[in-house]
Amino acid sequence: MQLIKLSATDSTNAYLKDLLFHNEIEDFTAVMAHTQLKGRGQMGTNWISDPGKNLTFSVLVKSLESPVSEQFLLNIYVSLAIYNTLTQLHVPDLKIKWPNDIMSGHSKICGILIENILSGQHIQASIVGIGLNVNQLTFNNLPNVSSLKLLLGRTMDLDELLLNIVVNLKSLLAEKGKLDKEELFKRYETALFRKDKPSTFKNQNDEMFMGFIKGVSSAGKLKILMEDDIMKEFSLKEV
Ligand code: BTN
Repeated sequence: MQLIKLSATDSTNAYLKDLLFHNEIEDFTAVMAHTQLKGRGQMGTNWISDPGKNLTFSVLVKSLESPVSEQFLLNIYVSLAIYNTLTQLHVPDLKIKWPNDIMSGHSKICGILIENILSGQHIQASIVGIGLNVNQLTFNNLPNVSSLKLLLGRTMDLDELLLNIVVNLKSLLAEKGKLDKEELFKRYETALFRKDKPSTFKNQNDEMFMGFIKGVSSAGKLKILMEDDIMKEFSLKEV
């Protein structure tokens, strides 16, 4: 695995994408930055992280080669790779919050931003961006955010963590021929945040409704059992 370490860049996702467009680079090439000047978050948000304290990196995945209709699969592999890495470190009450967050209890510790490079209806390559809160101790009074140091009480080595995540991702993807989709979804759903618990959601019209998270569909939609016992599927824009 090739690891490129930068002191500062706008966004490791943008850097890796640019590198891919101009060079022949191998699968699982990773770019990490001490500082991101314009870190990107989900839905056009900014990802802000204290310089040098946390893991902000992107890794190239070329080997999944799936149709766009199955783009959520990589999300599952990446979430499980992070989940497995943090389980090995004994992070308490770990959960995967659909679609892109890793939680410890009610606090977010990691966010994922996957950007796909398409060729027609086919995913040619994916830039997997990961922001993991590691050694940062304060978060500007943001609610429900934590870090590994706050949870485990010790400073962690960023390079080692990156390597463990990539190794776990590689080994899950290497298993993909053997691991049927049902088993993969089962592993993901077992770790889902608030699964089977009564939860409140807000729809596009800002209306609240109650339901129970049951799992995800093959298209990556969240399956919610509604109060009237009907199962409905929601995309990120809908809930
Ligand atoms: C989220 O909103 O939860 C997703 C955050 C993803 C942040 C990571 S940090 C490394 C990579 N480069 C970026 O610009 N974003 C991702």
